[in-house]
Amino acid sequence: MKALKIFTMSMLLLSSQAFGWWMWTPGDTVDDSTQNGLTTGYHPEQPIDFSHKLHAGERQIDCQYCHNGARRSANAVIPPLNTCMGCHKIVATDKEPIKYLTEKYNKNEPIEWVKVHDLPDHVRFTHKPHVLAEISCETCHGPQKTMGTAEQWAPLQMGWCIECHKERNVSISCNTCHY
Ligand code: HEC
Ligand code: HEC
Ligand code: HEC
Ligand code: HEC
Ligand code: HEC
Repeated sequence: MKALKIFTMSMLLLSSQAFGWWMWTPGDTVDDSTQNGLTTGYHPEQPIDFSHKLHAGERQIDCQYCHNGARRSANAVIPPLNTCMGCHKIVATDKEPIKYLTEKYNKNEPIEWVKVHDLPDHVRFTHKPHVLAEISCETCHGPQKTMGTAEQWAPLQMGWCIECHKERNVSISCNTCHY
């Protein structure tokens, strides 16, 4: 099954080469009306105005305090309300957005954050080996500390992954990154 998928991908690759590599030109495969994983600057509206600048910048809360999956799994993880309420049971409780958080928390309802990054399903990306190799979050996510809600910074295109893998002597065989 896996071999077959890779074979199909290789055929796609060959045919895209025949068409002059247009498949990996930024923008070409992107439908602007839908969310996708290939748009630098993608910055969807979120249910509340969470600020990375305030929390990670000014207050210097470590990225991995909230995104605590990054060093041990594929997903960095969006923090559950529990993480927020660790502080916001006491901090800024009189502010509107915190009242909203508290209401959701008391009703046991999650905040429905909109996904920003979204690689296609045929790609395998896992945070763990990258974080353990001491590549900083900023290398791939840019100056997140200066942003409000998150926006996509890196292109997340195949060429971007491969360039760094080559530089760092990491495998670039197709099945390293593809199912
Ligand atoms: C080598 C590049 C790279 C590094 C280093 C990296 N990320 Fe990511 N991150 C990505 C990619 C690629 C995605 C999109 C994954 C997908 O769509 O499947 C992503 C997705 C995410 C997401 C959303 C989805 C998820 O995984 O839960 C969060 C949150 C995140 N990264 C936070 C971090 C934090 C915090 C760090 C540092 C501890 C970090 N990342 C380090 C490349 C990186
Ligand atoms: C380690 C403590 C800590 C954690 C965890 C934390 N915050 Fe905060 N948050 C703060 C502090 C400190 C402020 C600034 C309060 C002030 O200026 O009065 C703040 C301010 C805010 C504000 C602005 C309130 C306003 O209108 O002035 C929002 C919104 C907010 N946090 C949301 C969240 C969310 C959502 C989470 C979880 C994903 C979270 N916070 C997790 C400490 C924390
Ligand atoms: C207080 C908790 C908190 C801290 C600290 C924090 N984040 Fe986040 N992060 C969130 C929340 C909540 C979201 C979802 C809302 C949004 O997209 O901004 C998020 C979203 C993200 C996303 C986009 C996820 C997606 O949907 O693809 C990335 C990337 C990210 N954070 C990186 C970082 C980095 C890098 C740092 C450290 C510089 C950091 N975060 C620090 C709470 C936090
Ligand atoms: C800034 C450099 C950098 C970027 C960008 C990068 N990687 Fe990596 N990647 C690494 C390093 C370094 C390792 C190896 C760590 C180690 O030796 O354990 C690695 C390891 C991996 C592994 C595990 C390989 C294995 O043999 O276990 C996968 C899968 C992977 N990367 C996929 C991706 C994908 C997909 C992207 C793009 C979305 C990407 N990487 C972007 C540097 C990078
Ligand atoms: C280091 C990670 C990495 C390696 C190695 C890798 N790819 Fe990819 N590939 C990606 C990522 C990420 C995407 C999705 C983003 C994009 O389309 O550029 C992708 C997308 C693709 C696509 C879809 C292109 C499109 O426009 O829809 C094909 C086909 C493909 N890869 C084939 C291959 C083949 C064949 C190999 C081996 C020669 C390979 N890839 C090796 C990361 C990788």
